[in-house]
Amino acid sequence: MTFTANPRRTRLAVAELAPDTLDRTDPAGFPGTYAPPSAVPHRDARAWVAEIAELTQPDEIVWCDGSPEEKQRLIDGMVEAGTLTRLNEEKRPNSYLARSNPSDVARVESRTFICSERETDAGPTNYWRDPAEMRAELDEVFEGSMRGRTMYVVPFSMGPVGGPISQVGIEVTDSPYVVVSMHVMTRVASEVLDLIDGGQQWVPAVHSVGAPLSEGVQDVAWPCSDTKYIVHYPESREIWSYGSGYGGNALLGKKCFALRIASAMARDEGWLAEHMLLIRVTSPEQRQYHLAAAFPSACGKTNLAMLQPTVPGWKVETIGDDIVWMRPGPDGSLRAINPEAGFFGVAPGTGVETNPTAIETLTHDVIFTNVALTDDGDVWWEGLTPEPPEHLIDWQGNDWTPSSDSPAAHPNSRFTVAAAQCPSIADVWEDPAGVSVDAIVFGGRRASNVPLVAQATSWEHGVFMGATISSEQTAAAEGAVGELRRDPFAMLPFCGYNMADHWSHWLEVGAGIDSAKRPKVFCVNWFRKDAAGKFIWPGFGENSRVVKWIAEQVDRARGVRTDEGAVPSPVGLLPAPGALDVNGLDVSDDELAALFDVPTGAWLAEAELTGEFFDTFGDRTPAALRAQLDRLTDQLD
Ligand code: GTP
Ligand code: SPV
Ligand code: MN
Repeated sequence: MTFTANPRRTRLAVAELAPDTLDRTDPAGFPGTYAPPSAVPHRDARAWVAEIAELTQPDEIVWCDGSPEEKQRLIDGMVEAGTLTRLNEEKRPNSYLARSNPSDVARVESRTFICSERETDAGPTNYWRDPAEMRAELDEVFEGSMRGRTMYVVPFSMGPVGGPISQVGIEVTDSPYVVVSMHVMTRVASEVLDLIDGGQQWVPAVHSVGAPLSEGVQDVAWPCSDTKYIVHYPESREIWSYGSGYGGNALLGKKCFALRIASAMARDEGWLAEHMLLIRVTSPEQRQYHLAAAFPSACGKTNLAMLQPTVPGWKVETIGDDIVWMRPGPDGSLRAINPEAGFFGVAPGTGVETNPTAIETLTHDVIFTNVALTDDGDVWWEGLTPEPPEHLIDWQGNDWTPSSDSPAAHPNSRFTVAAAQCPSIADVWEDPAGVSVDAIVFGGRRASNVPLVAQATSWEHGVFMGATISSEQTAAAEGAVGELRRDPFAMLPFCGYNMADHWSHWLEVGAGIDSAKRPKVFCVNWFRKDAAGKFIWPGFGENSRVVKWIAEQVDRARGVRTDEGAVPSPVGLLPAPGALDVNGLDVSDDELAALFDVPTGAWLAEAELTGEFFDTFGDRTPAALRAQLDRLTDQLD
């Protein structure tokens, strides 16, 4: 097995640890939070908007309030401008299709920068640029970038407005598509401005598609620029994005704020911002469990978030599908919220067989981007139905038939839809105080080596599992699809600071939680393949069997069950014979054995590469993870 070389810079500056700050605060009863080492001075929102307008020179400034009327007005304007196509009102009410520029279809990791004061604080897995140099460069790039356009000012909250785990920001953007998407994905509200005026910390986020319009020039359906920047200043908590209108590049509340900036805030303040889904699981005995799971992009978070269990009597409800914020709560447990208000989900592969809940969610009020259009004004993508329609307009606006060589929908085409209209949404999904996390799950796309499920033997071992996730790259970002790359905590493109410090932070947060309340940690892999290259595990709804075992292991740890659930292996606890419910499942004993096989040679080779990977972080790699690697190697030997 080989890992592709990390494309990022690998040189490491001298390791300097961030100064320890002991200044404790106690917001809304949530203990264990620390004041940021460099307190960010409060910015005046109006002065900031005026400053950005002076730089970008829009024709007009519109302050947004998040109302349905505002959303409809913007949508109607985009339909008129050709940015959105209204879908068949009977088949897909209040739904629209957007086609992006073919050069603007996914996140651009190579143009995503973490501009911390010190290079070593961004670490070897991020692209770092000197903040002063970047500011000077961006001043030129943004100068006049909104000429001929409207600048929208979008006040938004990540998490319920005013909640103890929530955060607020303002995105200014010259893209109405971004404003409408922010309406769905975040809570856009004027109340946010009141919170900001009242002194609450907020994140300023500047977005421009980078396509100023000269007088008399006709606009295009999807303006963007070949030059792209997605820039983060983690210390001053600022975001600047230029040149793209797509997804995580442009909806700045999502990856830029809720992961990159929030992870840096979380490091300073004692919480966690993670690339995770969040679900509530209910057993036939009506016991409840909350699971947070980190999988890399397009590796099945939305699917697991909307799981319809095949195991009788078990229920799964959705809380979030992409991002989770967790904080030690007043009750001593780890409390988690979904900071988002909608789903920006991968369309291809979403069908009645694989994710019926998503299909039901998508029946109305959806914005689709880069899927195909049917002759009767509805949408289609690969995997929606077993047979493709005889004729389509593909994602680039061209005629398409089943004999065409390219896919009808772009592999990273997506739907944008309110979480509230998901039939499996949990009634607690907007509880500002969050839910108590019982289990944390890490996973990736691994054709070999990694078992279907394993449980960590300790918190440290769990952090080691997270730190050593690797996965075959998907179309969610630019790059070679299918190549195996390391993606620690599924946060490789999303950690706003040194990844090794992220591991230390996880160790520290866990150490601060009473062991009885500390979540149990697991790793899973739905993607193991046989010699013929076929997935061995049926996946999707059948993943409920694994969820059930995880819940039962939580019960055993709490003394609720006393039967033997697990047997040791070098890579963690595996289900004991008979403990994984495979009743009624068409998987042979040989296949089951293959799903749990831990090949010694391949694991030793992987362990050696893990050591090399840890070395790239120098002495920032926590000793506890080195110890876990030594333990793994010893047990394999
Ligand atoms: P981001 O939104 O990019 O962060 O991704 P995500 O993790 O939410 O991805 P999503 O759930 O949309 O997964 C997309 C792909 O994973 C689709 O092609 C699915 O068909 C595939 N997938 C999800 N679950 C399973 C599974 O259990 N087995 C197999 N074989 N494929 C799966
Ligand atoms: C991902 O790539 O992990 C996504 C999609 O969730 S985007 O918001 O575009 O980053
Ligand atoms: Mn994601």
